[in-house]
Amino acid sequence: MRAYLLETPTTTLNAADLAAEGILYWQLPTDAHDYAEPLEQIRRERGYVQMDQIHLQTDTPNLSELSDKFFTEHLHTDEEIRFVIAGSGFFDLRDKTDAWMRVHVEAGDMIIVPADKYHRFALDSARTITCKRLFQDDRGWTPVNRAQ
Ligand SMILES: [Fe+2]
Repeated sequence: MRAYLLETPTTTLNAADLAAEGILYWQLPTDAHDYAEPLEQIRRERGYVQMDQIHLQTDTPNLSELSDKFFTEHLHTDEEIRFVIAGSGFFDLRDKTDAWMRVHVEAGDMIIVPADKYHRFALDSARTITCKRLFQDDRGWTPVNRAQ
């Protein structure tokens, strides 16, 4: 994970800076055999009831529509929980001053975007990511786009 202010990329942010913004971050092992237990522990402790997997790559059908959707600033009324198992990408999240914080995630990074926090996602130059998505609930997890 590497995080910084989008407007001033030399201003780097660490996990404590993200935590001060309500964003939780863990670095887990990248090997499935090794991350299974810590992932399960987080899932149990935080009460996530569902898990699935999303995979994006250059030949994913409707990748450009999906990319547009993910890069539209939005929030959710539940947490957005992502554990990256391959590839990489950018989460942009608004800080308390409404500035963008950019978090570059790669395999082993687990990030929890709190409810009601405006954010967006973009692929990076590798153009591929595979994430496990965990859910607190299957209701209410829909994007609410920010008013233009
Ligand atoms: Fe989202």
